[in-house]
Amino acid sequence: MTRVESPVRLEAALKVTGRAVYEAETPMTGMLHAALVEAPIANGRVLGVDGGPARGLPGFADLVSYAEAEVFKPSGSTALAREPRIHFAGQPVALAVAGTLHEAEACARAVRLDLAAEPAVTAMDQALETAFAPDIVGRYPATTLRGDPGAALAEASLVLRNRYETAVNNHHPMEPHSVVCAWDGDRVVVHTGTQAIFATQRLVAHAFQIPADQVRVVSRFMGGGFGCKGQLWWPWMMWAILASRRTGRPVRLELTRAQLFNLVGRRQETVQDLAIGFDAEGRLTGIDHAVLGQTATHGDYADGTARVSRWLYACPNVATTHRIVRTNEPLPIPMRAPGVAPGLFALESALDEAAGRLGIDPVELRVRNYASKDPETDRPWSSNSLLDCYAAAERFGWSGRPAAGKARDGRWRIGWGMATSVYPVHHQPCRVRVRVEPDAGLLVQCGTQDFGQGAYTAIGQLAAEGLGLPMDNVRVELGDTDLPEGPFTGGSMVTASFTPAVETAMARLRAMVAERVAADGASPLADAAPDDLVFEGGLVRSRSRNAAEGLAEILARLAPDGLETEGASAAPENMAFSANAYGAIFVEVGVDPDLGEIRVRRVCGAFAAGRILNPLLARSQYVGGLIGGIGMALHEQVATDRASGRIVGDTFADYLIPVHADMPEFDVLMLDEDDPHLPGGVKGVGMLGTAGVQAAIANAVFHAVGKRVRRLPIRIEDVIG
Ligand code: MOS
Repeated sequence: MTRVESPVRLEAALKVTGRAVYEAETPMTGMLHAALVEAPIANGRVLGVDGGPARGLPGFADLVSYAEAEVFKPSGSTALAREPRIHFAGQPVALAVAGTLHEAEACARAVRLDLAAEPAVTAMDQALETAFAPDIVGRYPATTLRGDPGAALAEASLVLRNRYETAVNNHHPMEPHSVVCAWDGDRVVVHTGTQAIFATQRLVAHAFQIPADQVRVVSRFMGGGFGCKGQLWWPWMMWAILASRRTGRPVRLELTRAQLFNLVGRRQETVQDLAIGFDAEGRLTGIDHAVLGQTATHGDYADGTARVSRWLYACPNVATTHRIVRTNEPLPIPMRAPGVAPGLFALESALDEAAGRLGIDPVELRVRNYASKDPETDRPWSSNSLLDCYAAAERFGWSGRPAAGKARDGRWRIGWGMATSVYPVHHQPCRVRVRVEPDAGLLVQCGTQDFGQGAYTAIGQLAAEGLGLPMDNVRVELGDTDLPEGPFTGGSMVTASFTPAVETAMARLRAMVAERVAADGASPLADAAPDDLVFEGGLVRSRSRNAAEGLAEILARLAPDGLETEGASAAPENMAFSANAYGAIFVEVGVDPDLGEIRVRRVCGAFAAGRILNPLLARSQYVGGLIGGIGMALHEQVATDRASGRIVGDTFADYLIPVHADMPEFDVLMLDEDDPHLPGGVKGVGMLGTAGVQAAIANAVFHAVGKRVRRLPIRIEDVIG
């Protein structure tokens, strides 16, 4: 087993001492502040925006709305900024700009809107007859059929047909969306916490019809994203950038917490009809998974919710469909384990129910249905350690699982449940620049983002290891479009994407050092073959003879200007393998049937996600994911007032999220997994912890009190009595 170290976060000291400058805090001279004017109606047209009353107020500087935004070149990213059409309640109609934030807010309040309201569809069930199949879900077909699931279900020994529902969730990163922007002639710098600096650059350039290299986007530190720090916020950011150009001054806009409920996307609400059939031995014979999801009137969005049913288990007959319904509500967008988390809630709840009906242990039922190759494409897995993950059942004590409804702890009924977790492997192209100075100081640069997952540390660690240098020697620069382009931060793919690029770059640096030292007669390593040299502990030494020299001495003598090179990786094309990361999650809950209170007491997650670069960071990702999953299972639900279409309780007092008092004991096990088919052997961990835990909790609740809850979040009234 290779020794894996866990250096602490490179930026930890900066963050805990408040010296890390988040983009909203970027200082600018003469900066103006902006506030949004929101529509109070959920559907209709803007007939007029009267800024007159605002113009007389102190500090007023500018007002932009759809009319001013006609200068934008049309695209999906500017549509809502350009059109006088209201699609959902709270949609911004204008942006007021003034000397201070309070002045801007006062100006925004003074703007008079002339709106023509139209009847609004404020819930999916008001428009079910308009449901339609989107072209694709993510990059995959929305509808698939394998074998004859209808016949298989008709002939199965056991068939379960149930409806599962998941609520709208919001991402709610700690740091709200913001922009601080400034023009210098026809060039603009945009400071914004985003998961995608290069996409932001391209869209700003497109909107303002200037070359991309005249737009610099900076996103060095971020307080989370979870999928929402992307395109849905762009129209309002474009208004701020436009106001900056019109006023000739820097402009700052920061969303409020309430605005994060409707302006930056949401986890798609789902209604899932799932039928599964088994033979007498508990082998899946048929699956029919039909998903209905909400989308907005201004865009088609569909999570690939039923995708897991296509390939997680071996099953010859599978039908999956996705349909979406347009409502006058905000557009959904990927949110942590998009599709996979709600889809697994249905599938893994159904498997648990089937296990009970078949009299087969829930772990054993899953083992029996293990897919030894991808049942959808017939391709082999790049690697699949799911069976080893199930073996963690013993660590949890699963064989001592009490009989259902029998375990007590005071007022608590105790239940144990489990579920499979899975998340597909993704890659994006990535370029990395590395530079080593004559004093062996190492600089790593990549235009990707660290939204809290630990990219600074992991990329720095790989670079340091590449030259055998301590972490203290490394400086990392990310989050700036002036750097070589890296992947957007999403899909758990950043580490998987940069690892091969960094490793290529470091191999090139080693080769550059080796070439120089071999040619230097004065070095003890003279004439050494490149593959004879080992870089370790700040030294370069020979494997074959007793010779070594300090890397800093070599560089000072032979590379007085330093050495610099790049490495690149591409997304693998036409992979001959299917690749997923897997896990098994075991949960103990306590349910108080008198109060309807549910506590998650203990979570054991065993995960196999290829090579783990930094176990400390990876564990943090898993625990964070599990906490998000607990929130989805027990707490988080966006409530909409169906009469007005407005969100009810758009505060953290009303939108419940798990807090410290909700935290169980986490036991995270990271299995060794060597995947020879993936570049760098890395799969990605971020989403894996978020998927599966919802069903494990619901299954544990059933085990505790015998109530099968098929709608998330599980509520007091679902378990009381
Ligand atoms: Mo993620 S939902 O791809 O930030």
